[in-house]
Amino acid sequence: MWKDWARPFVRPLPQWSVVAVAPPQQTVVASLRWGGATADVTTDHTVASLRPLTLATSLDAGPSPALEYRDRASGRLLGGLCLARAATLATGGTTLTLYHVATGGHRCLAWPLRPWNAWLQNRLMRNSGASPHSLMAPAATQQLMIAYLCPRPVILVSVDAPGHHNVFPMDLIGPLGRSGLFALALRSTNVSVPVMRESRRVALSCMPAAMKDAVYALSVHHRETLADWAALPFPVRRSRAFGIPAMAAALRIRELDIVHSEEVGSHTLFLGRIVSEETLAQDAQLHHTAGFHQAWRRRRGVPFAEVRPA
Ligand SMILES: Cc1cc2nc3c(=O)[nH]c(=O)nc-3n(C[C@H](O)[C@H](O)[C@H](O)COP(=O)(O)O)c2cc1C
Repeated sequence: MWKDWARPFVRPLPQWSVVAVAPPQQTVVASLRWGGATADVTTDHTVASLRPLTLATSLDAGPSPALEYRDRASGRLLGGLCLARAATLATGGTTLTLYHVATGGHRCLAWPLRPWNAWLQNRLMRNSGASPHSLMAPAATQQLMIAYLCPRPVILVSVDAPGHHNVFPMDLIGPLGRSGLFALALRSTNVSVPVMRESRRVALSCMPAAMKDAVYALSVHHRETLADWAALPFPVRRSRAFGIPAMAAALRIRELDIVHSEEVGSHTLFLGRIVSEETLAQDAQLHHTAGFHQAWRRRRGVPFAEVRPA
């Protein structure tokens, strides 16, 4: 059908693809390269801030390393980011490095579709302003998509303190493997940031892909607190050590003891240690990846299972 053929030339790919992946994702390997050195950072880098776009890792890879994302099965380079060291952060007996993203590129689409798709996506962003990352310029959003070549898991974060209950979805999260720390990057306007800085405890629920709509609906709680845990449309269970209400339908519930928090650009970076972990079910977890990554996998006949709107 001519319309299927013409679609990529008139309509951009979706920026984000919501996919079902068995955790932890193994399909993409991330490596830092600097000087003559290379280090696997698949489980040791995460987004610390969206504006400016900043990544955190527990490695110091020099002033201007390259971050590469490769498909594990084929070894093919999917994309990469050129980083510029912005700061070091010492906490909990370890040192992290914060890198700004200088430039980036991907190889998921062939030329000329690659620049054309980016142009269409950027035009749509400028015209709608409706991107979930609308605080970012289009060029930085393109770089963020590259950082999502490593599919990012979605979790629900529960906060429970006297007079303050809340639960909201997050995907700017992840382990900083070598340091033993786990990071959450939360926009500083989030209503629970001051309470999290004070209480220093949260429960993290890893959510099944099938619960996408319910998880997304909770994003309103980035701006307003939850009146009552009983108001949630699904049951909760108390986390093991902290007794924080977490999701009974979660695949896994972890508790995070926050040891450090500080503002990094638009976001507050929370760093903590996982103090407990309960596995409740084995199933595919809700993840996000870049739309052009899913398109690349689809062309090869190995797409991620896609979670479509109900
Ligand atoms: C699945 C999902 C994951 C999200 N992850 C994060 C996150 O990790 N950090 C964050 O600050 N906001 C996160 N958000 C919140 C939104 O991106 C957005 O910032 C929030 O809804 C506030 O809206 P605003 O940008 O209009 O203020 C997430 C939202 C959804 C639906």
